[in-house]
Amino acid sequence: MSRICINIAWPYSNGAIHLGHLAGSLLPPDIFGRYNRLIGNEVLVVGGSDQHGTPITISAEKNHMTPEEYADRFHEINKKAIEDMSIEYSLYSKTHSPTHIRTTQNIFECLKSKGYIYTKETEQYYCPSCGRFLPDRYVEGICPKCGAEKTRSDQCDSCGTTFETGDLLEPYCTLCGNRPEIRPTSHFFLKLSAFEDDLKKFVAGKDGWRSNVKSFTQNWLEGGLQDRAITRDMSWGVPIPEEGWDGKVIYVWFDAVIGYLSASIEYSRMVGKPDLWKEYWRDPECKHYYFIGKDNIPFHSIIWPAILMGIGGMDLPYDIPANEYLMIGGGKFSKSRGGAIDIPSVLKEYDADQIRYYISAIMPDTHDSEFSWDDFAVKNNNELVADLGNFYHRCLSFTKKNFGSVPAPADDSEIQEVLDAIGAAVKTYSECVSNCDFKKGLKAVMDLAHFGNRYFDSAKPWALIKTDREACGKAMNTNLRIAKALAIMAWPYMPKSSEKIWGYLGMPGTQEKAGLEAALEPMPAGAELPEPVPVYRKIEIKKEEKPVKKQECRKEGSSPAPSGPFADFRKMDIRVGQVISVEDHPEAEKLFVLKIDLGEDEPRQIVTNMKSVYTREEFMGRKLLVISNLKPAKFRGVVSSGMLMAADDEPLGGKTIALLEPSADVPNGTKVNCGLECSPSRIEVKHCEKVAIKVARLKDGKFLGRSIEVPAGAPGVIAAVIDGDEAIPLGDGKGCCMTVGKEVMDGADVV
Ligand code: MF3
Ligand code: ZN
Repeated sequence: MSRICINIAWPYSNGAIHLGHLAGSLLPPDIFGRYNRLIGNEVLVVGGSDQHGTPITISAEKNHMTPEEYADRFHEINKKAIEDMSIEYSLYSKTHSPTHIRTTQNIFECLKSKGYIYTKETEQYYCPSCGRFLPDRYVEGICPKCGAEKTRSDQCDSCGTTFETGDLLEPYCTLCGNRPEIRPTSHFFLKLSAFEDDLKKFVAGKDGWRSNVKSFTQNWLEGGLQDRAITRDMSWGVPIPEEGWDGKVIYVWFDAVIGYLSASIEYSRMVGKPDLWKEYWRDPECKHYYFIGKDNIPFHSIIWPAILMGIGGMDLPYDIPANEYLMIGGGKFSKSRGGAIDIPSVLKEYDADQIRYYISAIMPDTHDSEFSWDDFAVKNNNELVADLGNFYHRCLSFTKKNFGSVPAPADDSEIQEVLDAIGAAVKTYSECVSNCDFKKGLKAVMDLAHFGNRYFDSAKPWALIKTDREACGKAMNTNLRIAKALAIMAWPYMPKSSEKIWGYLGMPGTQEKAGLEAALEPMPAGAELPEPVPVYRKIEIKKEEKPVKKQECRKEGSSPAPSGPFADFRKMDIRVGQVISVEDHPEAEKLFVLKIDLGEDEPRQIVTNMKSVYTREEFMGRKLLVISNLKPAKFRGVVSSGMLMAADDEPLGGKTIALLEPSADVPNGTKVNCGLECSPSRIEVKHCEKVAIKVARLKDGKFLGRSIEVPAGAPGVIAAVIDGDEAIPLGDGKGCCMTVGKEVMDGADVV
């Protein structure tokens, strides 16, 4: 028996949780926790609602509620949604609870007394017309790196860059729209720099970490650790436990990660064993897992371990299996983008286990994955219902009808082939699930269901029952034995339906009590069988209805609006261009103004922020790619009619930005339509974010694990457009591919 502490990222309670939360950080730990209970481990599962910070105050203000009312309302909604999804926590807490506030303040005092927290004067946005400081999401502007509009002052949602005060272009106050000024203000800082060496040692030993987590963390560490402000000028949050700091509170990220510990303490008190948490947090044998989305990596692999090291004697993270993003229509699921599909609404139409099955089958563990309602229905109908559900039901209903109870078993030696199949499935399953490879673990279950159906077919019980009742009984006992193994293995993924099957099999107790071992044991004869009812149901396939605005997507006389895979790509007009002049921007030091020949009568004027990446000389004469149908935008008064395409591996932990360039000498103005029928019209930058274009090396003829057809003579590193499991090389469709002139990490996004 081992002890496992499962820590689940705390969703902000500023809205209902959606499928992105489920796939990213909520479902994987539930599968993992249940699996560990099956193999007899002691498991503590903690998490809750993240209730502080500007995500909450801004939403509350918009809805004319106090932050506390607002955060508590969604805490209740999300707590219920989580229960309805059968996700089990030891305690689903919230960060505005008294225990959490006290624990955070204690840790703050403890670190301060050890010299790990100190005060310093810094700069902060201040709005003169609102008369207040503007932390984090209260200021928006243009991202200096990717040009995205409406970017928050702490981090760019599109390209992942984190900012200091003053970095954002054309900043405005989100409350009144006026331009903020920058004022000095004092804050507490966490001395991260003091932990640099210990953190490097800590990470160096983590060979089992997923490569994205490890490389992101190592890159941060290699860049040198900056001390970070851990207080903010606002009144909603954990109060600073010191005199004279009115109007400031502890920064949301400093308090949220402490939640894992405070919820463990609160749970211990709740169950009447106030010291229980120490068995999980102060015993080096206890393994701590953190289930999070990839945007949370540095907070869990650097900042939280630093806090734990500062306290001393605490268990550090054992594994941080961060997931990539679940995408819908090519964009990331998120509240802010409006593409969200919230759990309470989804549960009104579908069963929790149907959703859990589909999300597990497409889990974005190693790369982003695409959600679609069509695919949901197809996988539910063709796999869950047709393989697993069908096997359960034909075994149970046939046995019930012809025997009424579990018939006597065959001798093990007569069914060795079946026992081997179960044994092999359990082995693969255990290896995968214990390694947090949940998609493959599910596949092992479904492969066994498939085997079960073949076994049933070959045993022909419907014929056997007429000729040899005893042999038929033996065959059905064997079938039920397979069903029992499935009901145990599937339980972590689909608990409710698996528990029903357990009952239909006449098995006593629960799967958890029986344990994974019971999957290998004989099917006990004699138990009375209840009348079974199918546990999975088909989903009617509705066509995804995306209303198409005529003017937007159709030009007079042009081809119809694109749909299907790569539809969003086909609205882009990408062309090969050549730089013919480079000027400094008259107002902005960090920008160049380029003139680019796109084979049109007049050259295009484009403003770029890549001045720090490419010199004037490097730009001059360069062939590059331009998104040419963007709505013109002004950058500090200068019009920009298009955007350059570049690969950026910073979100993967790299440091390289590289312009895309054609691999062959094609004329200026060449259309980069991948050979697809395109119907471009005016688009906004937002549209481009929906299209996933990545740069990677071809490996065994595959592009990031997807099959792809590349023209002969294509370079080894190419850019390709991705849609679900499909990839096509970015190019003119006639043999010219797009590549980069510098080393970038595989999977780098093109922005
Ligand atoms: N609320 C954060 C988010 O949604 C996650 C917080 S995780 C914790 O991105 F570590 F802070 F708990
Ligand atoms: Zn950006």
